Amino acid sequence: MKIRYELLDKSKRKSPPSKVEGFGQTRTNHMFMVDFENGEWKDPRIIPYNKFPMSPGAVSLHYGQNIFEGAKAFKHSNGEIYVWRWEENAKRLNHSAYVTMMAQIPVELQTEGLLRLLDVERDWCPEEPESSMYIRPFMFGTEDTLGVKASSTYTYCIMLSPSGAYYKGGFNNAVTLLITEKYHRAVSGGTGTAKTGGNYSASLLPAAHAYSKGCAQVLYLDATNQYVEEAGTMNHYHVMDDGTFIIPEFNDSILRSTTSSAVLELAAMGKVKARQEVVEVKKFLSDIKSGKIIEAGGFGTAAVVSPVGKYMFDDGSTITVGDGGVGKHSRALYELYMGMQVGSTPAPEGWLTKVERYEQK
Ligand code: COI
Repeated sequence: MKIRYELLDKSKRKSPPSKVEGFGQTRTNHMFMVDFENGEWKDPRIIPYNKFPMSPGAVSLHYGQNIFEGAKAFKHSNGEIYVWRWEENAKRLNHSAYVTMMAQIPVELQTEGLLRLLDVERDWCPEEPESSMYIRPFMFGTEDTLGVKASSTYTYCIMLSPSGAYYKGGFNNAVTLLITEKYHRAVSGGTGTAKTGGNYSASLLPAAHAYSKGCAQVLYLDATNQYVEEAGTMNHYHVMDDGTFIIPEFNDSILRSTTSSAVLELAAMGKVKARQEVVEVKKFLSDIKSGKIIEAGGFGTAAVVSPVGKYMFDDGSTITVGDGGVGKHSRALYELYMGMQVGSTPAPEGWLTKVERYEQK
């Protein structure tokens, strides 16, 4: 499908900042957009980043029919930009669309829109350590109707945000997670595997509760409070004393992190020791106490590998993992993973997609 360019005059474009600040704060000049109407995707275009008109009765505003993704691109030392495992994100968006009864969007259309947008904004891709071009694709129901039903029209959009580390202090700052029985992220049979806004709005109150106790996030348990699930902004892992990473077995209340999947693929290639298990909370805590579990943390696109040094409980008591700092296994995996992303370590075939130079018309 031909993509239309409606670019800002060069004299009207903002320049990239000399240094990226935090996560998700900066916007580039343009975005990619395409609309779904009468059963077809129409008018794919790259247009100035701006507010968009929306019907007050749009389904996404009332009944939460919206989904999103998070991906990253990196500038390599050859000056070219590469997108990391993009297809995984494009496919997961369609999974989220399935769960929320939204239209499917061809992976090829998502890819073409992204690569052309990244080409237009290539000067914005940061190069500092721990930084990347964060890619935020999203889709929402636009039909103006107050009946509770799936929208018949949608908009898919990709915006870009040159970003630094998700957690303040970056990789070297091991965070504390709150293990609470008070809040749950998702239940079996619900929408937990979808990256839909409702799962994230539902996490705001639990997150505020966690922050008020000095924790970075909640480590969610399943609804029966017996099993470790995920941390909302990232999947969870722990490391056994033989250096094996354990990721909770995916179920229908855990989002399948593309970073967890990458780690499991690396394990299948023999580059790291990792597997999935159903993680029972009681056993998890007793293994931390006995020293069988030596490290822990989270995996996510934004979070990458984020070490956890401590867990806090509802009564304010805490338990420390290993020495509470960043462990050597987490560091080695982080370095391997980031090295592959930035091109200093070879990545498996097909994990990086080069952004070509297109004719912009
Ligand atoms: C990501 O890791 O990209 C996410 O989408 C998590 C988050 C920042 C909401």
